Parts: sequence; structure tokens; C-alpha cells
Amino acid sequence: MAEQDKKQGIEQIKDELRGMREKALAEIAGTGLLDELMKLRLQYIGKKGELTRILRNMGNLAADERPALGQLANEVRDRLEEALTAAAARLQEKAYEIQFRQERIDVTLPGRDRPPGSRHPLYQTMDEIEDIFISMGFGVEEGFEIETDHYNFEAMNMPKNHPARDMQDTYYINSEILLRTHTSPTQTRVMEKMRPRLPVKVIVPGKVYRRDDDATHSPMFHQVEGLMIDEGVRFSDLKGILLAFVRRFFGEDQEIRLRPSYFPFTEPSAEVDCRCVMCGGKGCRTCKGTGWMEILGSGMVHPNVLRIGGYDPGKVTGFAFGMGVDRLAMLKYGVDDLRLFFENDLRFLKQF
Ligand code: DAH
Repeated sequence: MAEQDKKQGIEQIKDELRGMREKALAEIAGTGLLDELMKLRLQYIGKKGELTRILRNMGNLAADERPALGQLANEVRDRLEEALTAAAARLQEKAYEIQFRQERIDVTLPGRDRPPGSRHPLYQTMDEIEDIFISMGFGVEEGFEIETDHYNFEAMNMPKNHPARDMQDTYYINSEILLRTHTSPTQTRVMEKMRPRLPVKVIVPGKVYRRDDDATHSPMFHQVEGLMIDEGVRFSDLKGILLAFVRRFFGEDQEIRLRPSYFPFTEPSAEVDCRCVMCGGKGCRTCKGTGWMEILGSGMVHPNVLRIGGYDPGKVTGFAFGMGVDRLAMLKYGVDDLRLFFENDLRFLKQF
């Protein structure tokens, strides 16, 4: 081509420009890809493209012919530019359409369900017990799950080698430190914090640990301890408080029965029964035909325990009690295997 170009006249160049324009327009219209449009732009109107190449022959034209050719060249460039822009917009539009169709979201689909959790039945029971005692003027203390031999046993009137220590199979961490076997050690901690103020009137809900594991015993279980100390606290105060508690917890028609018992930290001591919730007192398997079920231990705080806690047993008296939350929850909800509370099977937990 280069050779014959030399003698080209203006009309020939113009024809060539127009020819190039038509060919380019057809190719632009024919492409479906944005990449390809970029290539066409370079090929036709880029610095080293067709247009530049054709105009190189302008050198052979007379000076007065050049403006007319220049004008046509500009028109061709503008026209192609316009076509490229329009084609790019059209392709972009199509690409969006495809993308929107692919990423379409059905806002009418039901959402993913994330059911809210609920309070564990043991802690629902614990909350309920706490609320009842709080309404009767008791404060709430927590104490420590890791205790010393001193608080767990000595201060509870169980010196070393005391036979009652064997009643509570203990997890020892070392010879002095252990996992508390009951919430009772918190009695002494509360007294040490409160003394010499009166009255002392607290409950202690919390976890306790014993080396035990079967359908009715778990190595970790829950107790609520109660302690009241003041001038002139009597055994009848204990009975009244416990009757009020049992009626609020199990029902207003409840009754309690106190049986003499033994605990090293109370004197006298009593075990407390209420009417069997399974049979209403008629006698069934749960209550072994007696119509009564044992729900807690209690008594008047032993003088030694008061003394160790910093109160003068000649001046003040007190009562204490301790109940097993797990057992109360089993009775209240009719659960016959304690282990269900610790397996955390949602099918079980959802029922509360
Ligand atoms: N600490 C006893 C236990 O775990 C329960 C208990 C009995 C607590 C009598 C008391 C009480 O405060 O007076 O078996």
C-alpha cells in the first residue's frame, strides 16, 4: 500500500477515510466484548492506528487542500469516538443486567431462624428460690467454690478426723485447699465480713462438689444456704421462714415436718420434709409411700460456729439451713434423672 499511497489525491484519501469509518462502525456494532472495543479504538483511532496511517499521506497534498481533509478526519474520529462510547455503554448495561439477574435476592424468602437461648432450668429454680428469700429480707452472698479446709470443715465444727467429714467425699486440691463440698463455709465468711453488725440475714446460692456420680448424684451440684443471726432468734423463726418458703415454692397448700437430725454445725438439727409433690401426700414411689419428702437440712447455729465467726454465742443466736437446688428442681418439674440437667440436650432444655 505504502508505494501507491504517494501519488494519492485528496479524493482518494477521503474515500479511504470513509471506507475506514464504515468498516470500523460495522466492527464496533458487531462486538459483544468490552475488551474488544478497546482494541478497536487502538486499531482505528489510536496514535499508531489507521487514521494516523491514512493522514500520513496528507504530506502530498497542496496546502489549501489540507483543511478540508483535516475536517473530515476530525469528523471521522468524533464519529468513531461516539460509536465506541455508545457501544461501551450498551455492553456495560448488558453486563449489569446479567449480574443483577445472577445476584437477584428473593426478599420474600423466610429468614434464617436463630432461636434465643433460655435460662437453664436449674438456674430458673435458683432464681426463684433467691426471689422468695429476698422478698423476706435476706441478702445474697456467693462465697468461693475453691475453699480451704479451714472454712469448709474446721469452721463448720468438723475438726480433722471428725467422722462427719466422711459424709462428704471431697475433691482435694492439696491438703489444705479443696472444692467446697457445701455452701456452709460461706456462713463463716459472711460472719467475718459482717461482725459485729446484726442481724445477719443471707442466703448463699452456688455450686458445690462431691465425689459422687449416678442417677441422683452429680459431682457438681447446687445448694442454697441460709443463715440468720440476731439477738433472740428462735427455732420457731426457722420453722416459720421455711414454711413460708415451701408454700411459695411448691404451693400454698403445703405443710412441713421437722425431724430431729444431726449436723456438726447446728444444735439442735432438723431435717425438713414437705408433702410429696408427686402424690400430694397419699404415698407413692417418689416418697416411698410416706407422703413426705425430705427437702433440706437445718438447725440452730452451733455455738462453736458463731464463736469462730466472731459472734458471742452468749448474746446472739441463729439458724441455718441448706437445700439442694438440683433435687428441688427435679421434684418441682417431675424430672427423674439428675443427669438430664447436665447433658444440655436442647430437646430437654426447651421444655422449661
Ligand atoms: N451443709 C449441709 C450439706 O451439705 C446442709 C446443711 C444442713 C446446711 C444443715 C445447713 C444446715 O446450714 O443447718 O449436707
